[in-house]
Amino acid sequence: MRTTADLHAEDNSPLEPVTRSGRLDAGLPAEPFATYRKPLELAAELALSYLEGIPRRRVGADVALAEQVRSRLARPLSEIGEDPETVVAELAAAADPGLTTMNGPRYFGFVIGGTLPAALGADWLTSAWDQNAGMHITTPAAAVEVIAGAWLVELLGLAPETSVGFTTGATTANMTCIAAARHEVLRRAGWDVEADGLQGAPPVTVVAGEEVHPSVMKALRLVGLGQKTGLRVATDEQGRMRLDALRRALGSVKGPVIVAVQLGNVNSGAFDPLEQIVPIVRELPNAWLHVDGAFGLWAAASPRLRPLAAGLSEVDSAATDAHKWLNTPYDTGLAFVRNESAVRASMSIAAAYLPASPNERDPFEYAPEMSRRARGLPVYAALRSLGRRGLTDLIERNCAIATLMAERLAADPAVRILNDVVLNQVLVRFGDDDALTKEVVRRVQADGTLWAGGTVWHGLGAMRLSVSGWSTSEADALVSVEAILRALHEAQRA
Ligand SMILES: Cc1ncc(COP(=O)(O)O)c(C=O)c1O
Repeated sequence: MRTTADLHAEDNSPLEPVTRSGRLDAGLPAEPFATYRKPLELAAELALSYLEGIPRRRVGADVALAEQVRSRLARPLSEIGEDPETVVAELAAAADPGLTTMNGPRYFGFVIGGTLPAALGADWLTSAWDQNAGMHITTPAAAVEVIAGAWLVELLGLAPETSVGFTTGATTANMTCIAAARHEVLRRAGWDVEADGLQGAPPVTVVAGEEVHPSVMKALRLVGLGQKTGLRVATDEQGRMRLDALRRALGSVKGPVIVAVQLGNVNSGAFDPLEQIVPIVRELPNAWLHVDGAFGLWAAASPRLRPLAAGLSEVDSAATDAHKWLNTPYDTGLAFVRNESAVRASMSIAAAYLPASPNERDPFEYAPEMSRRARGLPVYAALRSLGRRGLTDLIERNCAIATLMAERLAADPAVRILNDVVLNQVLVRFGDDDALTKEVVRRVQADGTLWAGGTVWHGLGAMRLSVSGWSTSEADALVSVEAILRALHEAQRA
């Protein structure tokens, strides 16, 4: 195995002495650091046996097991603490039956995505290194975000000057982008929202589709714009914003406006017609165009799917998740903001004890948190291990599998696919009957071959399949289709 010293040697850059005055080996205590070895070796062993066992595990955990997990772990907190290895061992043994195999190939719930090996390796190191990546000055490791961010801006076809903030998820990425939008549209209206707040400010109109994701609503609440005050634009049968309705809504708008567009409807996977929306929004004197693409934004990395996201290079901001379709571990969202000074104005803080890095990027100026883990490292590792083609293949393979599952399921006369499968989302209805559909979802979850959740789509109950993991194969898809149809036929006979 290559050590850090080997890697330095290959790099032709000799290791520096530890300090300017020489190596630090003069009797300083090393014992505390030896105590990491046993619990970490045990954790690595347990993690690997979990990961290698994924293909054989049932997918969904029985929620009733939560009580068992709780009762095995609950105890009065000890006065003197416990042996670290015992703590790790007992935690793992008790939690294991309650784990959902979310990072496995047949987890089709929500839009979860399983962690890539390089991203997980980098994430372990991120924890071991324990860097506070909020400021450039606290760790040069924060600079890795700059590389990952530049790759992302280019891969997704965003405007080259776009800044990137690493957030906990798409909810906080949406919030970051909307805070930047709020700053900029109010600045243009002559109002300093960071200094003076919203009381007495010119009203900001927020325009979004009727099927906007609730996290955008939450972001609006959090930045004080309120979730009910905006205009909702009618959507079509796939959940896409209707252009005639958008034009009508914008026709009545005066003053600052934020338009929130969705790339990737959480149910149907449909994309708002961004390319046509851009010129409509650009006609307004003071508008900001934001995109929520929590998972759909990744389509822009695929030459085949990119037309769905045409217009992305023109937007003011976009939010997505690396922990969804880039398959990094939790928790990493990405806030892309084209006008860097707007995001810095809304996120920056200053204090005498916080050293400024005038020539470097301080991560806390691009996201809500100050202290935080170096979540750019797993993003960097994921991108580097996939390469351009790997990322394109991941996205396109998942979409092809979604289409295959839809086609195979639709061959049964009792199955109806409710959406156009344009991406990785499939909405499946059984017997054109809500009760039967619910029952099939229940039976599928109880069976454990795969996991899929239920939803309601335009008034009709449906099973929702999201394909977003690198390890999902065609064989997994076919086994899953079989299990779904088995559950359907059993439910029909019952
Ligand atoms: C379209 C959309 N936006 C935002 C979110 C919120 O993402 P997160 O859970 O990472 O905050 C989701 C989550 O599923 C989503 O699908």
